Amino acid sequence: MPEMTRIVLAARPEGAPGPESFRIEQAPMPEPGPGMVLLRTIWLSLDPYMRGRMDAAKSYAAPVEVGATMEGGGVAEVLASQAPGFAPGDVVVGPTGWASHAVVPAEALRRIDPAAAPLSTALGVLGMPGLTAWVGLDHIAGAKAGETIVVSAATGAVGSLASQLARRRGLRVIGVAGGAEKCAYAVETLGCDACLDHRAPGGAAALSEAIGAAAPDGVDIYFENVGGRTLEAVLPRMNLHGRIALCGMIAWFSGKGAAEPMTLPAVWRMILTRRLRVQGFLVFDHFDRLPAFLAEVAPLVRSGEIVWRESVAEGLEAAPGAFLRLLDGGNFGKQLVRVGHDPAGT
Ligand SMILES: NC(=O)c1ccc[n+]([C@@H]2O[C@H](COP(=O)([O-])OP(=O)(O)OC[C@H]3O[C@@H](n4cnc5c(N)ncnc54)[C@H](OP(=O)(O)O)[C@@H]3O)[C@@H](O)[C@H]2O)c1
Repeated sequence: MPEMTRIVLAARPEGAPGPESFRIEQAPMPEPGPGMVLLRTIWLSLDPYMRGRMDAAKSYAAPVEVGATMEGGGVAEVLASQAPGFAPGDVVVGPTGWASHAVVPAEALRRIDPAAAPLSTALGVLGMPGLTAWVGLDHIAGAKAGETIVVSAATGAVGSLASQLARRRGLRVIGVAGGAEKCAYAVETLGCDACLDHRAPGGAAALSEAIGAAAPDGVDIYFENVGGRTLEAVLPRMNLHGRIALCGMIAWFSGKGAAEPMTLPAVWRMILTRRLRVQGFLVFDHFDRLPAFLAEVAPLVRSGEIVWRESVAEGLEAAPGAFLRLLDGGNFGKQLVRVGHDPAGT
């Protein structure tokens, strides 16, 4: 009997997850019922939000149950279909989970054109993270030419597109990233005007000094991907009536708040005295904008005017380790797992 491989949540982590949080299993190959499609996963996306799904607390989405397959988006080939509109050989993007194969409802799938761009880009620059950057910049922050923006996790999946789009829209772009290599990439390849290393000695105070020097007229927009000491450093540099597009807070995942603490009154005072507008957003509320996003960004990716970068882990069994590294900045660009053969050859 044919089998599939999957990675399940073995135990809920207390604080930081570790290899013991995951278990690899074999299971019988599922069969698609009416309206369902059987998929073979090619690329699996690893994303910071998956850390939240490992906790019991309900957030904007239900947690993954202990013993259940870890959730995740993937690019996959259709092997069998019981749904109109999908046929064997089609390539789709959808919720495959951390699994070699999956049966998924047809309405959760979007067909992609293998000739349009490398398949993996449907999970990165032309997928959920890319849409997040585009929505955050234009629809949440309302970025305008001549303004100064700080983008944290500037070389990551979201941040690298936010930085490039901000440059294209005529903003002064200050990236924040971990380490000299990422900062050099942000300036030389993504076109940031400056990039500051949040891991450099001196903590939030030194980072804030450096942001002040790189943005002598202050910061109009903060594209917030991390929280922690980067937020602490940026807040005092915000101009009156500045805007914060609150996208993520990875520095405070896994109870890491103790390492990079900030008191609520200090944050609140800064929002008040600077008259800041802070807007949290979730990309899931904006998927109706995907066609408009792709209409602008896909041609720029094809022409090479927008660049992207990937960290690729080989084989499904490498997913837990790659995910744990992602949470600590071990990825450089969009973190992917190559689960199966890519028929488009990338
Ligand atoms: N609101 C939404 O709908 C939405 C959608 C997608 C993503 N997000 C959020 O956006 C953020 C970026 O996601 P992504 O998929 O593009 O991931 P990513 O940036 O490709 O990878 C995460 C990066 O976070 C940085 N990081 C980790 N710990 C940090 C710390 N303590 N301080 C500062 N930076 C730290 C690391 O970069 P460095 O090495 O540069 O530190 C790491 O590479 C995440 O917070 C994620 O949850 C939100």
